[in-house]
Amino acid sequence: MASNITLTMIKPDAVAAGNSGKIIDLIIQSGFKIQAMKLTRLSKEKAEEFYAVHKERGFFGDLVKFMTEGPIVAAVLEKDNAVEDFRKLIGATNPANAAEGTIRKLYATDIERNAVHGSDSDENAAIEASFHFAGVERF
Ligand code: CMP
Repeated sequence: MASNITLTMIKPDAVAAGNSGKIIDLIIQSGFKIQAMKLTRLSKEKAEEFYAVHKERGFFGDLVKFMTEGPIVAAVLEKDNAVEDFRKLIGATNPANAAEGTIRKLYATDIERNAVHGSDSDENAAIEASFHFAGVERF
């Protein structure tokens, strides 16, 4: 059975552009409940840990630099079929390929500076939620 949570990060590009509020509103209007949320900033070490699966990729260094350049909004979101439904809401990794109305189509700049993260599986959603939040911070 699909689990009912996913982890999102509103990335430094979207926070710096002042788009956090509009993105959070779109998320809530799309039926997601916020279990946990905070404004935070990733250290180089924490960004490298979060994206460890990509460490052999050519874009890894630039990705870590981007994700540490300013604050992010991290949140745990709850909804039936959360992972799949949230990935539909955010759209393709590359905003050039993202569907109309998706968060990346609306707010992303390019394949790296793509405004938001969404977990890619139920297993990773649980790992990523624990990465950002303690149990007592989730409601
Ligand atoms: P996301 O899917 O949230 O997590 C991995 C991130 O790496 C991705 O968003 C982009 O920010 C970045 N990324 C993925 N593919 C590329 C690429 N080809 N070039 C640059 N950045 C990328």
